[in-house]
Amino acid sequence: MGYQTIEVRKLTPAIGAEIFGVDLARPLGNQVFQEIHDALMDNLVIFFRDQELTHDQHKAFGRRFGELHIHPTSIRTESEHPEILVIKADEHSKFVAGEEWHSDVSCDPEPPMGSILYMKQLPPEGGGNTLFANMYRAYDTLSAPIQRLCEGLIAVHDGAQVYGGRFGQKPKEGGFPRNEHPVVRTHPVTGRKALYVNRNFTTHIVGLRKSESDALLEMLYRHSETPEFQCRFAWQPNSVAFWDNRAAMHHAMWDYFPHKRLGYRVTVKGDKPFYRAQGRI
Ligand SMILES: [Fe+2]
Repeated sequence: MGYQTIEVRKLTPAIGAEIFGVDLARPLGNQVFQEIHDALMDNLVIFFRDQELTHDQHKAFGRRFGELHIHPTSIRTESEHPEILVIKADEHSKFVAGEEWHSDVSCDPEPPMGSILYMKQLPPEGGGNTLFANMYRAYDTLSAPIQRLCEGLIAVHDGAQVYGGRFGQKPKEGGFPRNEHPVVRTHPVTGRKALYVNRNFTTHIVGLRKSESDALLEMLYRHSETPEFQCRFAWQPNSVAFWDNRAAMHHAMWDYFPHKRLGYRVTVKGDKPFYRAQGRI
């Protein structure tokens, strides 16, 4: 991929790239926008350093990529900016968001395409990194018989397992989202197939016995968590990470208790996951 307006430096061959030469606080021209989008499609997660963003500028950057998503739990949002999800852990925290491998809000009927996290405060002794995993790679490296087994299977993703269980949060009216999605999904832009199950939200595979579903999911989770599919991002204050939830999972390290880590997330709406047997669309 040739880039004219930005510089793209890969973190690992599998996933992740740092982007240089762009100020996200300013409106993006079409060429810069297209190149950032291309870099996201190529690398699944992209990182920017030393950005100074107000909530409005953060939201404006997100809106270039689509409508903004409002999280199904409203407790951690600031009321004047419902699209801003506050990501915070400190000495009072009993849990933190994203401690387990997951794709954001995969319990939604149309889970978000992307998430843009802007980090403001980090623990004094390091830590608080985020790990990302390439779910195309996870699918591609399954053996052909297991690929065939997984294609066409449907899994249930339940928000109650995360938000109601570990987080102990109350749902908004109508309960937490709970939806069925294909175990292998076709990416709507690249046409590539990605594994789409995660420990946080996925409860079981439809039509399988519990023992079968538990064993298959555990195998897929462990396979997806192969270190060679991953990168690990060391945040600094004012770093931004933008990941594609359709092709990547992530895991936030909580290795800094009782210190504080604070960031703000804007989330871009996505569409209903689908599976198409033929390769590219
Ligand atoms: Fe997350």
